[in-house]
Amino acid sequence: MVDTHLIHVEPLRASIRELVRGFGSDEREVALVTDNLIYANLTGHDSHGIGMLPRYSESWVEGGLKANAHIETLMDSGALLRLDGRRGFGQVVGHEAMSLGIERARKHGSCIMALGNAHHLCRIGAWAEMAVEQGFVSIHFVNVISRPIVAPFGGGDGRFGTNPFAVGIPIAGRDPILLDFATSVIAQGKARVAYNKRQKLPPGCVIDREGNASEDPACAWVDPLGAILAFGGHKGYGLAVACELLGGALSAGLTSDGPATGERRVLNGMLTIIIDPKAIADPASFEQHARAFLDWVAASPPRAGFDKVRLAGEPEREWKAKRLAEGIPIDANSWNAILDAASRLKVDPAKINRLAGVNI
Ligand SMILES: NC(=O)c1ccc[n+]([C@@H]2O[C@H](COP(=O)([O-])OP(=O)(O)OC[C@H]3O[C@@H](n4cnc5c(N)ncnc54)[C@H](O)[C@@H]3O)[C@@H](O)[C@H]2O)c1
Repeated sequence: MVDTHLIHVEPLRASIRELVRGFGSDEREVALVTDNLIYANLTGHDSHGIGMLPRYSESWVEGGLKANAHIETLMDSGALLRLDGRRGFGQVVGHEAMSLGIERARKHGSCIMALGNAHHLCRIGAWAEMAVEQGFVSIHFVNVISRPIVAPFGGGDGRFGTNPFAVGIPIAGRDPILLDFATSVIAQGKARVAYNKRQKLPPGCVIDREGNASEDPACAWVDPLGAILAFGGHKGYGLAVACELLGGALSAGLTSDGPATGERRVLNGMLTIIIDPKAIADPASFEQHARAFLDWVAASPPRAGFDKVRLAGEPEREWKAKRLAEGIPIDANSWNAILDAASRLKVDPAKINRLAGVNI
């Protein structure tokens, strides 16, 4: 086990804002990037929180990530949009793309939005949440251009990324459904977190480079790389392929089609479908049937080993309440990597520690 810093959200926010200024970002970008990453930590997804900053800093140094970039509209026919993220921070271009898509769905009843060339869009659920907060259903198919790390069903090496999929469904008078996951058994960042904490992975997550089953997170994080398995056997693998074809080939014009190049960038292509439920359904009927179904499902008696039945989005709300009250735990290895990122960005690591209240 390694030491852990427990940092409350506001000092962490001040500290990370200072670090993000090192990219040369304007204050809007500083706020969008920081808040998005910290929200991932708050909702229990340390794999997609501030621990991404070392990777972002390496990508920025290489020119794979561009600060202060904004979306460019390549095609606009009203309810169909094709956008280029111009390798900008996903937290910024994702926000801009979703704002535009939601505006069009409000006007036309639905919008299909293709976003390519975005640097890491981070938690895809954040984009579903943005739509849900304004009363829209949102569906996302995403591919990842980085090292191919996920093995096809039956395959012995990595051929594509952890291709996430997300759906957000707002339901009046109830918490929304927010389903958001990597199509690999674990997100790659979860291997990074386990590796940094010197913990094993559960069986069935990764294979080593000979294709043998392993519990070593290094198989998915450091060379020589093995691969992560797709979740749910051939079914999750099939969904991953759909994400690559829709998020990658159709939206971004970029797919995983060869071995790793060694570049540190992480690009995402995302096909988003936004629907105004009021435009397609009788709102009263939709809400009544959705509530009746979810109440029925949640009332299933918990079986041995479970405290209750949860619905997608519920664990994140529970994590958020806990971490807002107690603080966000960051293991010392991950924090040291963040301090190294600060140095890379010419930001004083001592200031990052001071603002976060970390004494080293
Ligand atoms: N941008 C990228 O390139 C990229 C790539 C991969 C993953 N990601 C992100 O990584 C994050 C983590 O992905 P993951 O695969 O580790 O997620 P995960 O395995 O933790 O699954 C999360 C989903 O499952 C639901 N869930 C969890 N426990 C549940 C329970 N007991 N009952 C009902 N529902 C439950 C959650 O509400 C959530 O919708 C996601 O936000 C994803 O978008 C991003």
